[in-house]
Amino acid sequence: MDWHERYQVGDTPWDKGIAAPALVDFISEHADFFSSGKKFLVPGCGRGYDAKVIARAGGQVLAADIVEEALEFGRRDNPDGIDFRCLDIFKISERWDVSFDGVWEHTCFCAIEPEVREAYVEVMWRILKPGGTLLGVFFTNPDMPEGEGPPYKTGVDVIERYFGELFEIEWIREPSSYYPGREGREHLVLMRKRGFHR
Ligand SMILES: C[S@@+](CC[C@H](N)C(=O)[O-])C[C@H]1O[C@@H](n2cnc3c(N)ncnc32)[C@H](O)[C@@H]1O
Repeated sequence: MDWHERYQVGDTPWDKGIAAPALVDFISEHADFFSSGKKFLVPGCGRGYDAKVIARAGGQVLAADIVEEALEFGRRDNPDGIDFRCLDIFKISERWDVSFDGVWEHTCFCAIEPEVREAYVEVMWRILKPGGTLLGVFFTNPDMPEGEGPPYKTGVDVIERYFGELFEIEWIREPSSYYPGREGREHLVLMRKRGFHR
């Protein structure tokens, strides 16, 4: 997938121009989750709508993407000082090992190729502090043909299989609100870093 080209030609159907409704709802119910001083990573942040909502809720945010153009959009209006960085998520642990209190995941896991999912999970595990959390809204599309994508086929079973070894999954829920058209195809998940290496 050429992500740069997708942004250049405006072929970005995942981009709804607003933060994930599930994230906005979660913040309204758990005001202290992203509270001041805590450091969060938003991998594959795109144009940064979610990162902005997290920063407004008090989090210190590193928002990472490989497409500079998407990051530039985020930087244009950035009153909360989000660190928008052009970074390959698979290399983040080289510099930010054990650095974050939390990760916010949103249609990044389903966007990467299935062959690199294990590596992705391991990077998320590595960059979190002990007991750190990964909260995410996962796009779930169990009917997608195997190998086609992105978004590649995912489901609750896939999330449990890939994350379950390195993370303790606290809960998986259907969010109370969705982007229009995503009803029943999103799962909000909270998991916590386990304290051991594979
Ligand atoms: C489906 S989009 C989701 C964007 C955003 N999270 C959202 O939900 O609106 C996936 C994003 O991941 C970024 N991405 C893909 N591979 C990446 C990588 N290796 N490192 C950093 N970002 C990556 C893409 O450029 C794209 O912005």
